Amino acid sequence: MMSEFAADVRRGLSATPKELPPKYFYDGVGSALYEAITYLPEYGLTNADIRLLETHARDVASRMPADFAVAELGSGSGRKTRPILEAARRSGGKVRYFPIDLSASALENCGVTLADVACVEPVLAPFLDGLERVREEHREPLLVLFVGSSIGNFTPGDAREFLTAIRATLNAGDALLLGVDLVKDERLLVEAYDDPAGVTAAFNLNLLARINRELGGNFHLPLFAHEARYGENPPRIEMHLRATRACEVQVEAAGLTCRFEEGETILTEKSHKYTESMLDALVTSAGFSVEACWTDEQWPFAELFLRPA
Ligand code: AVJ
Repeated sequence: MMSEFAADVRRGLSATPKELPPKYFYDGVGSALYEAITYLPEYGLTNADIRLLETHARDVASRMPADFAVAELGSGSGRKTRPILEAARRSGGKVRYFPIDLSASALENCGVTLADVACVEPVLAPFLDGLERVREEHREPLLVLFVGSSIGNFTPGDAREFLTAIRATLNAGDALLLGVDLVKDERLLVEAYDDPAGVTAAFNLNLLARINRELGGNFHLPLFAHEARYGENPPRIEMHLRATRACEVQVEAAGLTCRFEEGETILTEKSHKYTESMLDALVTSAGFSVEACWTDEQWPFAELFLRPA
């Protein structure tokens, strides 16, 4: 049987226009490159997210009842999650923390990094399955973290559906902390996804390198160029890989031969940006009410503290 990766590559590269799912960026190399991206001065998202979480962690924790647990969609890097876990820590001891992720190595990393501030109980599962499992097995009120603007990879329609499903797993005393990147100057956004040192270009191209490594592909990487474009309606950054010459590529494990015209692109990621009013409409339509909202001035970014409505 063909792996899910091979099947997705086959489907995505046979389609017009060509498109690949961003979840395949994150093999070992890709995860390390993404971590490097979060340190780039041009990539303001992570720093804004961290500033907000550090500044408002106590406020977040004080909105929750005495003994609450924390679940996170994606195993947070210590840099982001630590302030919340520290604020959640009671005199009684460490808070229970359930990172939910499909990557065993990411879970292991965050377990090691955060063990000193939390009782880490990793959940190896897709986000919604994992959250349901946590909600079924643990009775204490739950603070769910979905930060870093990961929601941006969903189209607004899919984001609404996803948030509605999260809402359905939550009880009255639970809350969702949602971090979202906001619409801002187009130049700043394009630079954030096309940095001068080429780290994001390497991150994008690694997807083809990964197809070569794992699926027996023969992409000639120097023929492909990284591109970041900003588009409206809805506002988003699109990352593409452009074939600078016509070429033909085989991917053995996907049973695929595909042709590229000169200039043809593969759409590899959509990263949606929101205005505060779009965000408000999104979360309200998913059955949440906004209890608090904090925004960063330096790099417009919003942290929403949401309750099941
Ligand atoms: C991890 C989805 C939030 O969209 O900004 C960073 C991924 N891609 N640079 C984003 C990413 C290129 C990132 N997310």
